[in-house]
Amino acid sequence: MQQAKSVVIAIAMIVGIAFTTSSVMAAEGMYSRGNGNKANGENIFRNGKGDVPACTSCHGETGTGNDELGTPMIAGQFFTFLFKQLEDYASDKREDTTMFVMNANAKGLSRQDRIDVATYLASLRPTDLGSDLNALKEAGVEVGIPYKGRALVEYGSPIRNDGYDAPKDLGSPGKGVPACKSCHGYAGRGAPPVYPMIGKQRYVYLVNQLKKWRDGSRANDPMGQMQAVAKKMSDEDIHNAAAYLTNASPLTNGNFFRPYMK
Ligand code: HEC
Ligand code: HEC
Repeated sequence: MQQAKSVVIAIAMIVGIAFTTSSVMAAEGMYSRGNGNKANGENIFRNGKGDVPACTSCHGETGTGNDELGTPMIAGQFFTFLFKQLEDYASDKREDTTMFVMNANAKGLSRQDRIDVATYLASLRPTDLGSDLNALKEAGVEVGIPYKGRALVEYGSPIRNDGYDAPKDLGSPGKGVPACKSCHGYAGRGAPPVYPMIGKQRYVYLVNQLKKWRDGSRANDPMGQMQAVAKKMSDEDIHNAAAYLTNASPLTNGNFFRPYMK
């Protein structure tokens, strides 16, 4: 009897674990991929809808953004983040101060359309990501130094008030910028559902957003997390971090996929 009871308990536990694991996995899939109508999403992306122009007209044919227009890569970003941004634009929680278009674009779509376009974008795996730093330099854009940015992304800049003259390579010693990696993951590859992929994002967009978080003109971050980070960053830190991130490989030797991307 005792034995039969423990067998029943054991089976119940196995079923329970299997059930929990699969529902957690389903939830993760939802976070990163969404469950909207991809066909409608693609149609909006390519052709627009009503007064809303095609997303491709500013974000590029492949959705990887454009440095001249200051638009971000939106293709391949994960679902929960894209959808949140569209909701924030639609409710004016985030203001597009660049061209004042994204608020109108988001409002011109229904909530279901926003889910659909975010689902479509999250399903894309573009390969032409990131900015050409040399081309930007030639165009007169101030470009940072990638290896210094890498130190900031991986380790942050330590607070030293003991007189130690920390190597300048480590960002701005004394300010205590936290490592971007602690929230955004290795090489800024993103950590759904909250922390967006910032690796391989467009250089100009990264710089603009960091400056906006710093001066408070973008304030849609949960618990003011990004504003707190950016307020500790100098212009140099911002340029360096963006210069590293825009071409940062999300992969390490022996690891051929991003955790949430299949
Ligand atoms: C007229 C140009 C234009 C068009 C058309 C446009 N966008 Fe944008 N989009 C922008 C700009 C500029 C930004 C950056 C604004 C800012 O700094 O807040 C942006 C930002 C975004 C963001 C925020 C991304 C992030 O990483 O935070 C999303 C999501 C987005 N657009 C989706 C779309 C979708 C979907 C469409 C089509 C329905 C679209 N956009 C059409 C110019 C455009
Ligand atoms: C404490 C956690 C945390 C740390 C550390 C952090 N971030 Fe963020 N970051 C966030 C959150 C949360 C968001 C998303 C805000 C939102 O929902 O709009 C974000 C968004 C961003 C964005 C906007 C992305 C987009 O597509 O719109 C940029 C750029 C960014 N972070 C850069 C950085 C850099 C560079 C560092 C390191 C110097 C850093 N972050 C460190 C939490 C963090």
